[in-house]
Amino acid sequence: MTTPVPTSQEPARLRVLSGIQPTGRFHWGNYFGAIRQYIDLQHAGDAYYFIADLHALTTVRDPQLLREYVHDAALDLVALGLDPARATLFVQSDVPEVTELTWLLLTVTPMGLLERCHAYKEKKAKGLPADAGLFTYPVLMAADILAYDATTVPVGDDQVQHVEVCRDLAGTFNHLYGEVFTLPKARVLETAARVPGTDGQKMSKSYDNTIQVFEEPSKVKKKIMRITTDSRPMEDPKDPETDHLFELYRLMASPEDTAAMAETYRRGGFGYGEIKKALHAAAEQFFADARGRRAELAADPATIAGILDDGAARAREQAQKVLDRARAACGLSRRPGASS
Ligand code: ADP
Ligand code: TRP
Repeated sequence: MTTPVPTSQEPARLRVLSGIQPTGRFHWGNYFGAIRQYIDLQHAGDAYYFIADLHALTTVRDPQLLREYVHDAALDLVALGLDPARATLFVQSDVPEVTELTWLLLTVTPMGLLERCHAYKEKKAKGLPADAGLFTYPVLMAADILAYDATTVPVGDDQVQHVEVCRDLAGTFNHLYGEVFTLPKARVLETAARVPGTDGQKMSKSYDNTIQVFEEPSKVKKKIMRITTDSRPMEDPKDPETDHLFELYRLMASPEDTAAMAETYRRGGFGYGEIKKALHAAAEQFFADARGRRAELAADPATIAGILDDGAARAREQAQKVLDRARAACGLSRRPGASS
């Protein structure tokens, strides 16, 4: 008697999936470097986006804060244009199938593979204590991807290594037990939008140089006014391409205003104060609609709760199918090849 081998039902369409850690409020770097591109990709095929609260547990240890970050992330994403009618938006921990799948994958994960992963390696190199959650983080991430038969995973370049780990683990599991998992591919987000922070370095929570997308306008203004500038005389013509204030302006102003601003730089004789005022006006205008939508959503908690419940139900339905395939393939179900 032959044992039926479960096969992965490779989706014909592109299935895009990505996760965002709720470890703080989103800043301009997160928006232009990642979120904007996720939102664009919701038109490319099926899209699954989730708020990675299980991952955030390795850094956010305050339960109330974690709840707030998750709620804010959902509001922010929908306000910024993620359309729940097109994309499935959900919270990672609402799909417990993923944590079970993580265990199955852990049993085929070589220690050496995880020792080479940079999140853990960097922490260790700095002599900081690392927990097993951080060490095994790439396996949880692999389960996140495989549970939904994702084909395409848009990520920043820092996450490409983890998508490779996912492919490795899926390949090993498939080799041992049959074609259970769909092998995904990373789609590296454009690094051209490496958004500078208020001090000119890459904008990042860790450098305390961020401007948040939905920060109070008066606070945004204060932060813009503090952006570092070069100390050359005002009369000197300047190259806009090497100036971080200009880089920020370009992200939010119209092409015509950007060209006019570049001209102002090349002519010289301007004060940085004027440029900062123009940046503030451009930023306010750029995010005005999203701010309005966010205020409406925040005033109506049932809407966002409904979106996340609906997203979780859709995500679970998909994850259950994959988990059933995986359980049956490795012998966890009592009947060979049965799906439960
Ligand atoms: P942070 O550095 O503030 O902790 P995260 O590491 O949580 O930000 O970033 C989440 C996503 O946003 C990643 O995909 C990352 O590539 C993107 N991102 C963060 N900061 C920037 C930036 N300054 N420019 C471009 N993309 C960024
Ligand atoms: N690790 C990713 C980050 O820190 C977030 C994430 C978790 C993710 N699971 C994922 C991204 C699955 C893509 C696919 O940015």
